[in-house]
Amino acid sequence: MPAPKTFGQQLGRRSWAEPWKIKMVEPLFMTDRPTRERTRREAGYNTFLLRSRDVYIDLLTDSGTNAMSDRQWAGMMTGDEAYAGSENFYHLEEAVQRHYGFMHLVPTHQGRGAEHLISRTVIRPGQYVPGNMYFTTTRLHQEMAGGIFEDVIVDIAHDPQDRGDFKGNIDLAKLDALIARVGASQIAYISLAATVNMAGGQPVSMANARAVRAWCDAHNVRLFLDATRAVENAFFIQEREPGYADKRVADILHEFCSYMDGAWMSAKKDSLVNIGGWVAVNEWALFEELRNLVVVFEGLHTYGGLAGRDMEAMAIGIAESVQDEYIRSRIGQVRYLGMLLEEWGIPMVEPVGGHAIFLDARRFYPHLTQDRFPAQTLAAELYLDSGIRAMERGIVSAGRDPKTGDHHRPKLELTRLAIPRRVYTQAHMDVVAESVKAVFDRRAEVRGLEMVYEPTYLRFFQARFEPR
Ligand SMILES: Cc1ncc(COP(=O)(O)O)c(C=O)c1O
Repeated sequence: MPAPKTFGQQLGRRSWAEPWKIKMVEPLFMTDRPTRERTRREAGYNTFLLRSRDVYIDLLTDSGTNAMSDRQWAGMMTGDEAYAGSENFYHLEEAVQRHYGFMHLVPTHQGRGAEHLISRTVIRPGQYVPGNMYFTTTRLHQEMAGGIFEDVIVDIAHDPQDRGDFKGNIDLAKLDALIARVGASQIAYISLAATVNMAGGQPVSMANARAVRAWCDAHNVRLFLDATRAVENAFFIQEREPGYADKRVADILHEFCSYMDGAWMSAKKDSLVNIGGWVAVNEWALFEELRNLVVVFEGLHTYGGLAGRDMEAMAIGIAESVQDEYIRSRIGQVRYLGMLLEEWGIPMVEPVGGHAIFLDARRFYPHLTQDRFPAQTLAAELYLDSGIRAMERGIVSAGRDPKTGDHHRPKLELTRLAIPRRVYTQAHMDVVAESVKAVFDRRAEVRGLEMVYEPTYLRFFQARFEPR
């Protein structure tokens, strides 16, 4: 038998490891296959409807599943739970100003609370909202405020095999075409997400952010950022964009945000917390509207639906998230899993993005049409094989066209393995990779699913399926 090699040795370099050690552990439980056969049936073959106690390795989402640091937990103990003017709010405000650079902050309970506020404030019914691919809750809030979403992402984002460096970029020609068609006054704002979740966690370049800013200035249109994974985006800029290799991720993030009029944030991702969000802008008048509206839907403008302790954890998490050695290990872990799967010929979105591996269910199950929900099927099969929980990001997530009632049929039919931050080890990634391989080897036996219950909003959360 040849001498075993570490992963670093296999790649011809010295190994490196996470910049933290484990102080507290949470036991995991493995179920047997007959139990998983039953639990997935009871959950309607929808991984969102499983009980977490029936899951072994939980890659449903990287949202709110982060492990907090000892400093964040210590910060929780300093929660100032005053109804108004909590000290922790001011810490959070300072952290957002320092690292994201926006002047005025309104906290919200999570990202969609912020999306709700900004959509209601800035969209007039009938206006267009161009964005670099849709995100489920973002688009729904834009539509509920009367907006019409228009996808202006570069074409390569829809091709899982294109290995472009910045597949999250906005195509300026698409913006030009839209403005020629509807006029500048019919554009509510540009909705820029960095990274782009639905495209596979693909980044936006600094050059693109700068160019979109110039376009917005020329046409007097605002530019708002979905900053949910903007720190991960900054890492890709550091790695791939000329001129940024020697800059700190913290500085890159700051520059990126400087091209925006404001941002909304699901802090449950980049900011290493379990709950929280915010919207922040530079214009005072807009801030006043947001600050007024938050009182109606979330809570007073100095807590926005959060406890003081949650705001403190977020403030500390923001500072931890922009450390270069942290972000390198975070994305390094996602890539480790990606490298194994790539080596074994598993079809997935390439290059691997920031927060997850996105398996390409179309190529995984070429014999299933989109009406048989290949990505949903793949998530159900992975769970059956090993108790690993993934999520559908394809036709089910895309929902229906509000005008025609037909399914949106996205080109990308993906099953997402989202990696929680600072939670699992390299050994867990090995187990995941082997399970994906086992499901791939049995792919010909799979026949797909049928949707038997469909809720009105964000159907992927609660829809139920049966085997064909
Ligand atoms: C890119 C993006 N924007 C917004 C949201 C919504 O945030 P939340 O889940 O905190 O409401 C998410 C959550 O998954 C997201 O990934």
